[in-house]
Amino acid sequence: MIVPATPESVAAAARALRDGALVAFPTETVYGLGADASNGDALQRLFAAKGRPAEHPVIVHVASKQIAMRWARAFPAFAGALADAFWPGPLTLILPRAEGVIDQVTGGQDSVGLRVPAHPVARALLAAFAALGGEGIAAPSANRFGRISATTAQHVADDFDGEVALILDGGRCAHGLESTIVDCTHAEPALLRPGAIGIEQIAQVLGQAPRAAHDDAPRASGTLATHYAPQTRSRMLSRDALRDALAHQGGPRAHIAVLAHSLTQPPSFEGTWFDAPTESALYAHHLYANLRALDAREADEIWIEAPPDGPDWVAVNDRLRRATSRG
Ligand code: TXA
Ligand code: MG
Repeated sequence: MIVPATPESVAAAARALRDGALVAFPTETVYGLGADASNGDALQRLFAAKGRPAEHPVIVHVASKQIAMRWARAFPAFAGALADAFWPGPLTLILPRAEGVIDQVTGGQDSVGLRVPAHPVARALLAAFAALGGEGIAAPSANRFGRISATTAQHVADDFDGEVALILDGGRCAHGLESTIVDCTHAEPALLRPGAIGIEQIAQVLGQAPRAAHDDAPRASGTLATHYAPQTRSRMLSRDALRDALAHQGGPRAHIAVLAHSLTQPPSFEGTWFDAPTESALYAHHLYANLRALDAREADEIWIEAPPDGPDWVAVNDRLRRATSRG
């Protein structure tokens, strides 16, 4: 059930979490599907609802760096510097897990993902949950496994109607792409998932760019080749390739749905056409809503004009590659 986020509905959501139920809530990146991170039964319900394999870890959301430190048995100086620079905000740190962190959270690994979100509704929920004795909210993105993340309360309801006690509506997520994930379990920090915080911002704090994932990098579903994907067969095409393909429209009577940011719709085109923003942050803000809406058209194929390659587009390109990897 979707409810506007108010002090009363947030308090009810905190009670639902304490009682082991699932609650969806907005963050500044995407909506999260939350469960009490200390309750194994609640986590089992979470994995079942999402359709996610049990060995995939989930991020624990907490109210502050101080609380995050209780979930980790070590917190290297560079992780502390990143936390100070970007928390609350769209950064997830992977740290050695503290004793007592349950296997359902870590996927059985020796590390735990931690994030202090900035969204006022997420913060209010964390505060209300803490007032009931809650220690952290485990929350993957509020979409079914492998599918497109949710950036509105309605997206969550479209995926999970009935299985979630409450969906707190906090409007459209500001960033629209998931948090940046930095692995802090080795001597050198490594980037596991590009995201709302750019690599240059991270590099500025670290004094050098984070390295690529270590060979033994923990499993992360967001790093699977196919993820964030529409059900419609989807392809990414350069501007020129898209222009050529449009000249043929994918064969007789095929329904093609296009997401373009620089090409304009040719007068003869008869399919579905979405114009995406040309600026990277706005493009990201609208990306998942655009992909969900394109998917809902049930076209034969989705054709996406490849975005530029610059540093501002790294996270967008990462998600689009995974969204189109079956095409
Ligand atoms: O922006 C976000 O990060 C959103 C909001 C709700 O906070 N959450 C999110 O969660 O994107 P999820 O589960 O969809 O993606 C989190 C990624 C997954 O790929 C997961 O495998 C990885 O983080 N992850 C979580 N804990 C980990 C750990 N201990 N080691 C390695 N990867 C981890
Ligand atoms: Mg996800």
